[in-house]
Amino acid sequence: MARKIVVTSGKGGVGKTTVAAYLSATLARKGKRVILCDADFGLNNIDVATGVESLVTYDVVDAIEGRCRAKQALVRHPRFPNLYVLTSSHSAPERYISPQSLKLVLESLSPTFDFIFIDCPAGIDEGFHRAVASADEAIVVTTAQVSALRDADKTITLLKSYQFSSVSLVVNKARGDLLVAGESMSPKEISELLKTPLLGVVPEEYSIYDGAFETIHPAFKPMANNLLTGKRKLYDVTKKYTGVLGGVRRFLKRSL
Ligand SMILES: Nc1ncnc2c1ncn2[C@@H]1O[C@H](COP(=O)(O)OP(=O)(O)O)[C@@H](O)[C@H]1O
Ligand SMILES: [Mg+2]
Repeated sequence: MARKIVVTSGKGGVGKTTVAAYLSATLARKGKRVILCDADFGLNNIDVATGVESLVTYDVVDAIEGRCRAKQALVRHPRFPNLYVLTSSHSAPERYISPQSLKLVLESLSPTFDFIFIDCPAGIDEGFHRAVASADEAIVVTTAQVSALRDADKTITLLKSYQFSSVSLVVNKARGDLLVAGESMSPKEISELLKTPLLGVVPEEYSIYDGAFETIHPAFKPMANNLLTGKRKLYDVTKKYTGVLGGVRRFLKRSL
């Protein structure tokens, strides 16, 4: 049976879709069979983020509403053959989709997969509960910004009622330059503040999303290993900004 993991945050734009997509691809490249499900029926964009939009015949709502079998809605990724994308490309946001119906589709796919990642919409209303109800573990994505931290805190509190086997934290868009200068909360401090263990740290870099979903940033490797082994090794976002060369990079980053 697959581990079903919802990737959530409360706030939009912090990197849920990015983290869910690249973490899925990293695990798929390691040989795990992975489904990446778009449960953001309103602002669905997993198809575009993973570059499979032209390959979609059926989507998750077609499977839920019985127009196809669940397996037919999976789009096998051309670059990562172990990654199957369950898009919501055609879905109409005004349609009512119950948490149970999404859960049933994912459960029917679960026996032949290792992981199912569920990309959650922003907010903490109906769409959040529908995505969360299908999972048994959660990854909360946040940035070091105060507004994101507040929303992550609320989300973590809400997740408590679901009694997940694991809730962990990914700090995204981490600024190594600000960390070295002592001007940003460190991922460790964020983890302590939110009382949630860190699964990974991803730097803010334009190269994270390369537009073609081809190169995977090295920050996702330790994150995927942590998920598999339960260890807590983290990518060092400050490394680039220490020493003389690092000082120059800090200066350049600030003048952007
Ligand atoms: N680590 C990062 N560094 C730079 N840009 C990022 C990073 N993570 C995400 N982004 C960008 O931020 C925007 C929002 O990311 P997205 O994953 O769509 O957030 P969400 O799903 O939480 O709304 C996208 O344009 C994405 O490419
Ligand atoms: Mg998203």
